[in-house]
Amino acid sequence: MRHAACSASIALALAVVAFAGAPITRANENRGTGPAANPLAAAKKVIIDTDPGTDDALAILLALNSPELDVRALTVVPGNVTAQQGLENALKLASLTNRCDIPVAGGAQHPLFQKLITAELWHGANGLANVELPASKCKADPRFGPDLIIQMIHDSPHEITLVPVGPLTNIALALLKDPSIVPLVKEVVIMGGSISGGNVNAAAEANIYNDPEAAEIVFHAGWRLTMVGLDVGDKTLYDQAHLDQLSKTHGPENDFAVKVLTFLIGQEAKYGAGGGSPMYDPLAVGTAIDPTIVSKQAMHVDVESRGEFTRGETVANRRNAVERNVLHGDRYVIEGLDHVEPNVQVCTGVNADKFLQLLNSRLAGK
Ligand code: BDR
Ligand code: CA
Repeated sequence: MRHAACSASIALALAVVAFAGAPITRANENRGTGPAANPLAAAKKVIIDTDPGTDDALAILLALNSPELDVRALTVVPGNVTAQQGLENALKLASLTNRCDIPVAGGAQHPLFQKLITAELWHGANGLANVELPASKCKADPRFGPDLIIQMIHDSPHEITLVPVGPLTNIALALLKDPSIVPLVKEVVIMGGSISGGNVNAAAEANIYNDPEAAEIVFHAGWRLTMVGLDVGDKTLYDQAHLDQLSKTHGPENDFAVKVLTFLIGQEAKYGAGGGSPMYDPLAVGTAIDPTIVSKQAMHVDVESRGEFTRGETVANRRNAVERNVLHGDRYVIEGLDHVEPNVQVCTGVNADKFLQLLNSRLAGK
């Protein structure tokens, strides 16, 4: 069942049934004494939901080295790699950054209604550019990722920004299990979607394509949602000059990032247009760090789940209006326009230079 065509309501109902048994565990917050455990009051509390993943790894390093953010948890979703490999990678990244105080929790094992599609072609056999990091000193948090998300939102109402940079399965599961989180979330900043074509195929971006029903649930939850899509990510090309700059400094994270970025630039030269590698997931984190890096436009966005060529496409209504067709005899007549409410702040522009310098500056010497 690679591309099951389900309506959102069926998807929602089935998902509720399928996952109703998942436990919610309420445990003490696992805050430690790492660098961000001493957050400035102003630091933004974020939960990164990730399928690590090369660019996910860079996004996590960026977040953990940015004082503007207080990373409260990493939750892992299958996507670029399997759930198991993703959890192992997330734990290795927490260990690399000496942040075992941050809960790292596994979550869903597969998308809501289709088979998992993994992307070792783009991310390397281990998802981390084939770079072998040392075994992790950190242990997985026993809580189910969506439950951890729910718990943390209730523990810090109106303070948590969710930054999902993989398929939206875990976020949808959290919403289905506890819709009361919607008004309690400060903001959701996703990497995913596109308003001008896809990377999986002509229409769909990978994170949405890999779980369109989950995306539909997340896009229509009614919370403040910023979409950092493929088309703006494509403007943030990390090139050889950026790599040369970062290669001048050293440290475990810096050196790991250089290896990952070397791999990514190579992949882009092999399969893409060359000229550098798009920093998709890091840009979502960059947007959480500094929202002025991007420009946005409010749009009504639906997720296509039934189109033969367009399943997983984010269909954006730039005018937030649809024509009202009224039946007159044997034909319809357009009688006016109906407003459709914007549900997404769509990123339409990015200051790529500023962002790429931010990324390098935060990784340098770490
Ligand atoms: C997205 O898909 C994944 O391969 C990347 O990690 C990113 O989140 C880009 O389409
Ligand atoms: Ca990702």
